[in-house]
Amino acid sequence: MAQRKTVEDLFVHLLSDIYSAEKQLTKALAKLSRAASDPQLSDAFKTHLEETQGQVERIDRVVETSDIRLKRMKCVAMEGLIEEGQELIDEIEKGPVLDAGLVAAAQKVEHYEIAAYGSLCALGKQLGFAEGVKLLKETLEEEKATDLKLTEFAERAGNEKAMQEKGTKEKAGRT
Ligand SMILES: [Fe+2]
Ligand SMILES: [Fe+2]
Repeated sequence: MAQRKTVEDLFVHLLSDIYSAEKQLTKALAKLSRAASDPQLSDAFKTHLEETQGQVERIDRVVETSDIRLKRMKCVAMEGLIEEGQELIDEIEKGPVLDAGLVAAAQKVEHYEIAAYGSLCALGKQLGFAEGVKLLKETLEEEKATDLKLTEFAERAGNEKAMQEKGTKEKAGRT
């Protein structure tokens, strides 16, 4: 039978889930960085990898300041999102098209994280975990900034392609 759970149980559950997600991501971001051919995109993944390592440590601090204990669990959603990214790496040869795919896969990840940290901030506030909420907000801002940076890559890639096509058409028009 279903057990009655408290808001604190839910907070612990969601925090344990994102803890697993962040840990999986440290490995996945290294892969994305290696798979990217645009050096700036590769660097952006590397930078977010370092941030992600900091986010894992930040969760440890949330646990300490909120006096809770994490559950051992696996974030299956993140496992699936990472698998989707891996499929792209397996199916598309290295180059601008794969780069665009990597950006799309990474943005799905960031949106998952933004949703998770947003919920955790709201629940933490209800529970009076002021210090924990401050820490979680720092991570939330990092995830949002990463998402914006990825949007810039997505748009830039689109513009470059349009410019190339325009160039080709102009050339074709001349001959
Ligand atoms: Fe993260
Ligand atoms: Fe992230």
